[in-house]
Amino acid sequence: MELHNNIPMFILLVFMMMITSNGGAAANVPAIIVFGDSSVDAGNNNFIPTIARSNFQPYGRDFEGGVATGRFSNGRIPTDFISEAFGLKQFVPAYLDPKYNITDFATGVTFASAATGYDNATSDVLSVIPLWKQLEYYKEYQQKLITYVGETKAHEIISESLYIMSLGTNDFLENYYTMPGGRESEYTPQQYQNFLASIAGNFIRNLYATGARKISLGGLPPMGCLPLERTTNIVGGNDCVASYNNVALEFNDKLRNLAINLNKELPGIRLVFSNPYYILLVSINISGMLWDWNV
Ligand SMILES: *[C@@H]1O[C@H](CO)[C@@H](O)[C@H](O)[C@H]1NC(C)=O
Ligand SMILES: *[C@@H]1O[C@H](CO)[C@@H](O)[C@H](O)[C@H]1NC(C)=O
Ligand SMILES: *[C@@H]1O[C@H](CO)[C@@H](O)[C@H](O)[C@H]1NC(C)=O
Repeated sequence: MELHNNIPMFILLVFMMMITSNGGAAANVPAIIVFGDSSVDAGNNNFIPTIARSNFQPYGRDFEGGVATGRFSNGRIPTDFISEAFGLKQFVPAYLDPKYNITDFATGVTFASAATGYDNATSDVLSVIPLWKQLEYYKEYQQKLITYVGETKAHEIISESLYIMSLGTNDFLENYYTMPGGRESEYTPQQYQNFLASIAGNFIRNLYATGARKISLGGLPPMGCLPLERTTNIVGGNDCVASYNNVALEFNDKLRNLAINLNKELPGIRLVFSNPYYILLVSINISGMLWDWNV
């Protein structure tokens, strides 16, 4: 709970600053469009064959109606709060959920899939939606949007919307450090970080090419302090796993540099690196309420 209240505040601050500093006009964000993992999946995994699901109690306990929607949370997730803060819907619906259609998605949609990562090999572990496929879904969405609101309005929505990317933890915890004979035998942690950062860069270039301009690139949380990592750190007295936290810090530096470079490379882009690291470190300590952040 605590945790989920803190991330959006942070990301929001960054965006309010970014948007208001640019001409001082009020934020115009017609839709929130989301890519990523369980931190921002609102139920897409319920509609694909995978075990990486959260459509059962106690998930959703504090959600409207107490329903387990497929969000990995007791209530709403960060992107839901961000949507509300921009005066849009109270939650961002999952693209694959047949309860919703383009009428709903025109003001917000998530393509995220719990257990996915930048690396195709990560999404393969639990057969979830890879990042490249999320972009394919987004292109399909653009076509539906054009049919629904017309070409001119659709282009306005596409260029003014806020795009949020939140993933990367699973590449390390579910894949690199977990799958025997896999990425760890091919790459050092630093090489793997570079590999992931290059995928992130190409994804952003492709997203930009479809018309997106306001993009938030999320960094990694202190992943050595996640409940599962602490529980299994028996040798270390259930303390945070320092090496995982160091990898998160190094990778965040690479994403921050990537954002600086892409802001120079791509005219008109407003890419912000959103760093949840320090905020989460505190939140996890206070709340102890975070389930399955690393799924
Ligand atoms: C979307 O669904 C609503 C009812 O849930 C329906 O009234 C509306 O016609 C649908 N819109 C489209 C574009 O299919
Ligand atoms: C991931 O898979 C897609 C589809 O097969 C492919 O186009 C893409 O190049 C792959 N990404 C990497 C980094 O290998
Ligand atoms: C986290 O909690 C532990 C014990 O509850 C405390 O010793 C430590 O100082 C706290 N750390 C932070 C950063 O708040």
